[in-house]
Amino acid sequence: MQLIDGKALANKIHTQIASKVSKLKEEKNIIPGLAVVLVGDNPASHAYVKMKAKACKEVGFYSIVHEMPSTITQEEILATINMMNQNPHIDGILVQLPLPKHIDTNQILEVINPRKDVDGFHPYNVGRLVSGLDSFVACTPLGVMKMFEEYNIDLKGKDVCVVGASNIVGKPMANLLINANATVTVTHIFTKDLASHTRKADIVIVGTGVPKLIKKDMVKDGAIVIDIGINKLEDGSIVGDVDFAEVAPLCSYITPVPGGVGPMTIAMLLSNTLDAAAQREIV
Ligand code: GUN
Repeated sequence: MQLIDGKALANKIHTQIASKVSKLKEEKNIIPGLAVVLVGDNPASHAYVKMKAKACKEVGFYSIVHEMPSTITQEEILATINMMNQNPHIDGILVQLPLPKHIDTNQILEVINPRKDVDGFHPYNVGRLVSGLDSFVACTPLGVMKMFEEYNIDLKGKDVCVVGASNIVGKPMANLLINANATVTVTHIFTKDLASHTRKADIVIVGTGVPKLIKKDMVKDGAIVIDIGINKLEDGSIVGDVDFAEVAPLCSYITPVPGGVGPMTIAMLLSNTLDAAAQREIV
């Protein structure tokens, strides 16, 4: 069993990005800028945004976090995003999800300029991904693809089971895999017999938010297991969606939690923002 070290790979990518940022500044006088919209006081969202802002600083980006109370109106969020769309110093706009219940998330995401949509959630970018065209791609599934590349894991013809069909993880993950010529099964909460699907898979990718959902009898010998879950238990410990102690001995490769996919999400956010900055239109 080999661990896929997301932290080490993310650090390597951060270093590469930092040197590209210096070059972009030198050659074109561009400093990549990321604006984050953070609504309400969800502790996990605050923690993620803090990590994203810190990473931006470390690689030399300009970044702002626009915090808003949970009582904010739809119109106020839309107006803020419109301002960010117009701001020439901002290359990437990220709205941290989830948003409060009274907010129409789809309408918010759709108002982001697709060229600044570094989270890849705008329907324009989602549609391009599905069509196999160049697009901004959601950071977590993109990070998983980078891990496969780094560890020379070939996807062509592999049976891959994606557990969880969210817009943020499962759906873009499935589309990236299809584009890489894998045979993809996507399961979700209404799937009748989850284990019957995961057991058949060469690669199992799990993003559900259910702690330790995947047990040893659900994975075949030699499988590759990618755990996207980050769950905080009552005792304060962080665990994934895979029962690591049980499942790891069966695997050829597995990602740990923490230190697996999590750091890659941030690395891909930086990478997407750098790409947006490199394509900045100088007016
Ligand atoms: N909430 C959970 N994951 C993500 C993510 O990748 N991007 C944003 N914006 N919100 C999230």
